[in-house]
Amino acid sequence: MAAAKATLMDKIVSLCKRKGFVFQASEIYGGIGNTYDYGPLGVELKRKVKEAWWNSMVTTRADVVGLDSAIIQNPKVWETSGHVGGFSDPMVDCKTCKGRFRADHIDELSCPEKPSKKPGECHGELTEARSFNLMFKTNVGALEGASSVAYLRPETAQGIFLNFKNVLESSRIKPPFGIAQIGKSFRNEITPGNFVFRTREFEQGEMEFFVPPAENDKWYEYWKNERFDWYVRHGINPEKLRMRDHAEDELAHYSTGCADVEYEYPFGWGELEGIACRTDFDLSRHAEASGSDLRYFDPESKERYFPYVIEPAGGIDRMALTFMVDAYEEQQLEKDIRVVLHFHPLIAPTTVAVFPLVKKEGMPEKAREIEEQLRLARFSTFYDEKAAIGRRYRRQDEVGTPFCVTVDGDTLSENVVTVRHRDSMEQDKVKSDELVAYLHQAVQEWKR
Ligand code: GAP
Repeated sequence: MAAAKATLMDKIVSLCKRKGFVFQASEIYGGIGNTYDYGPLGVELKRKVKEAWWNSMVTTRADVVGLDSAIIQNPKVWETSGHVGGFSDPMVDCKTCKGRFRADHIDELSCPEKPSKKPGECHGELTEARSFNLMFKTNVGALEGASSVAYLRPETAQGIFLNFKNVLESSRIKPPFGIAQIGKSFRNEITPGNFVFRTREFEQGEMEFFVPPAENDKWYEYWKNERFDWYVRHGINPEKLRMRDHAEDELAHYSTGCADVEYEYPFGWGELEGIACRTDFDLSRHAEASGSDLRYFDPESKERYFPYVIEPAGGIDRMALTFMVDAYEEQQLEKDIRVVLHFHPLIAPTTVAVFPLVKKEGMPEKAREIEEQLRLARFSTFYDEKAAIGRRYRRQDEVGTPFCVTVDGDTLSENVVTVRHRDSMEQDKVKSDELVAYLHQAVQEWKR
């Protein structure tokens, strides 16, 4: 079973490279650890994931607004948030091979020189565990020195707390309300990453939801359910998802609750997103350290208080990987195996591919016209006229395109196209002038 599971991950990594989803970063120079680039289809997949996240978290809600804060903030931010002092992993070094390993992951790791052994079991001597801060340091300005040290943000959340007052005063919004942000975060991860599951630079989708303290528990339950359902609504198999409540001894000292949405990856269960009760920890710490009053004044009760915070925090790259792993299927058909990605149409990099049946009789011109019409109607489209029609369908199955439209003799004589559905492989005849409405409905009605 373990071998079969490992093979699935290998197949996904290989498909990602072959089809242009994900490439190793700096590949021609031998790469750089835990760092990847997204190709033409990967960037579309991520864009769709971000769009789906933003739509549910911001666009369709009256109680959440958006933000885009800076990656490099005043270093005092990270002292106050606790990241300078405490955002670290315990690491050990091997005195023989000079490898560095997470002390709490030794059992899952192998010696780089003798991969059949764990670090320390290969005659190498390990040092005592030492704290290794995960933040990337840089220098700001022309002079390098202690006073110019700055950090690349390790989470997007702190930028939201820093702007709590600005948003409150400029948006005429009041608790309960949220501020959402999508952006890059950076962590000097040492543990091997399982492809894009754990990388050194990654995008996060985080939202801080500010509530009156008495409403904390109600909103915590609400966001746990909402975030779990979001994955199911976007096509993830609910049997591969679970909500894991953190035990008391896993919670940060200020937190009253935390739960992870976990997915069963080919390499085991892993955290996809966390939903945390952060209480008033961040706002009160930043208020104290900056001298700025970050309390909310409630004009009805005349009370001034620090709202409590519920934080759903997910990794966009991890979401994209999860959609990919969950969508992958090898279907045994009568004559061969069909590789297909069953993406939700809102997540698929391409929504509709358009083909002329043959490259003559005016079909390519008509197909290009229809492709343009769909593109202008805001569908993500792709035009292909190379190879037999069956092979073109299969190529789109492999990259998860839910609908293919074929222009044939009937299109020229009767203005009717064939729509082929990826999942069932069934075909419908549709009038060209009803195609946009037909596809909009098919996207809305899609079921896993
Ligand atoms: N503000 C809270 C916070 O950052 P976290 O659990 O450290 O919490 C939230 O990160 C999410 O970000 C994780 O659930 C995961 O999806 C993603 N994430 C964290 N570290 C990551 C990494 N090194 N590579 C990819 N995604 C990561």
